[in-house]
Amino acid sequence: MLKARITGTGAALPDKILTNADLERMVDTSDEWITIRTGIKERRIASDGEFTSTLSVGAARSALEMSGVAADELDLIILGTVTPDFPFPATACIVQQELGAVNAAAFDISAACSGFVYGLSIAEKYIQTGAARNILVIGAEVLSRIVDWTDRNTCILFGDGAGAAIVQASQDEAGLLSTHIFSNGSYWNTLYQPGCGSRNPATKQSTIDERLFFIKMEGNDVFKHAVRAMEEAACAALTANNMTPSDISLFIPHQANRRIIDATTKRLGVPSDKVFLNLHHYGNTSSASIPITLDEANRAGRLKSGDIILLTAFGGGFSYGSALIRW
Ligand code: UT7
Repeated sequence: MLKARITGTGAALPDKILTNADLERMVDTSDEWITIRTGIKERRIASDGEFTSTLSVGAARSALEMSGVAADELDLIILGTVTPDFPFPATACIVQQELGAVNAAAFDISAACSGFVYGLSIAEKYIQTGAARNILVIGAEVLSRIVDWTDRNTCILFGDGAGAAIVQASQDEAGLLSTHIFSNGSYWNTLYQPGCGSRNPATKQSTIDERLFFIKMEGNDVFKHAVRAMEEAACAALTANNMTPSDISLFIPHQANRRIIDATTKRLGVPSDKVFLNLHHYGNTSSASIPITLDEANRAGRLKSGDIILLTAFGGGFSYGSALIRW
């Protein structure tokens, strides 16, 4: 069967940095609290002219350049985001136009922080069935536009950015070994944006006064489920491939909270030197976190030919999943 192989990665991050010290001046918090409870020290914030599409295009261009694929050779563009440029059309269509990817069908998926792993899973199926050969998968967010900057429970967590991967059909041993995606809708309202959809359409009262435009989160509930779900998704990947945690060369989990990552890796038995972290610099960038981290690890030379790389994601929905890759 054809393998889906990642042949290029890219990332784009806004220049503007918001530090914990900056947040101390905005809400009742401290660098010490944020560092101990989350591991985050700073995050990137989009400037006025930056949107989910512009960051996506930046990440996509880097990934295309690394892979040597031309934009007009792309068959499909899949973009995971919960902060599209507009509710419609799909931000992926704006990216298609900007890249000149005239032969690609383009669509967005809404799987919150799992958007990139969901996208990889879709790409894998298109390639295995022969329906596409060159696919651009993007995770991109401008969460700063839907963060409530008066809510210390959430505003310290999130950041903006985009990451991308080119996934190509290949006959090699290397490539995606498996993807697993899961949902648990029982908890949809523990992490969500209540306003501006069909349930709470935009009005001054709902959108502005009741602040329904902004992210709402039950942090403790999300935390507990994140650890269990990422462990479940990781185990599904290892079991499907007859592997154990000792086979993993590098573990790239969704970068939401250092304590979630530490608890997950402890339960899995993955040593800390095999875990790639960058949340201290970027915070939680939702669907962008895994592809940004994958690109950073790739460009740092941490992904060697034949390495087994495990990605695990968890986010609103709940949505979660894993991808196991032979690099
Ligand atoms: O991307 C996937 C989805 N997102 C996540 O995975 C996030 C999951 N949740 C978390 O990361 C954590 O739950 C948080 C970092 C959001 C919160 O950490 P926690 O250890 O669960 O804290 P908590 O919500 O239990 O709050 C503990 C205390 C509370 O004070 P009291 O009630 O004990 O007096 C909060 O009011 O910390 C207080 N607190 C803060 N204090 C200083 C909450 N936020 C802050 C803050 N600065 N920013």
